[in-house]
Amino acid sequence: MKATDLLQKQHKVVADLFEKIEKSKDDAKKKDLFEELASNLAAHDAIEREIFYPACETKMGITDLLGEALAEHGVVEFCLYLADEARGEDDFDYKMTVLKETVQHHVEEEEKEFFPKVEKALGAPLLEELCVEMEARFEEAKASDFRGPLHENLRQVLDGALEPAPAKSAKKPVAKKGAKKTAKKAA
Ligand SMILES: [Fe+2]
Ligand SMILES: [Fe+2]
Repeated sequence: MKATDLLQKQHKVVADLFEKIEKSKDDAKKKDLFEELASNLAAHDAIEREIFYPACETKMGITDLLGEALAEHGVVEFCLYLADEARGEDDFDYKMTVLKETVQHHVEEEEKEFFPKVEKALGAPLLEELCVEMEARFEEAKASDFRGPLHENLRQVLDGALEPAPAKSAKKPVAKKGAKKTAKKAA
């Protein structure tokens, strides 16, 4: 099997889990399905980031599609974090909708635009080799708790994105009353 076939198979598993969660009326079952979905998504994220995308970069360079895919992984991780934080709460369902739509967009671009180019550039023998490595890493990542790596990845993204904290002597900006509360709620 080629790495691109493995990834498409995993996309299908994730899509089925989203559907099952949406249809489930039983809260305990919904929680179990969410754990299953989250560990699948996190393990899929790991094999693409650690093995598949670097192999694509070696052969194709950082293309716009690869750059976009990497940025989208960060967005998916953030949506997954938000849904995880909302487990058992009223806002879980709509946070799951945002996660599903974000994943669907990313998957569609991978399957329709990126994978055909990757298959041409990497060729079947290399893709089959990568698949073996990716399958083993997927099982390993799926067996461990997804929250540790997820939080660590998000921390790294934010560390790179945020301005260094202002020096203590710097004048604090005047925050609008209630702004912090509203921002927290929106997240
Ligand atoms: Fe994918
Ligand atoms: Fe991806």
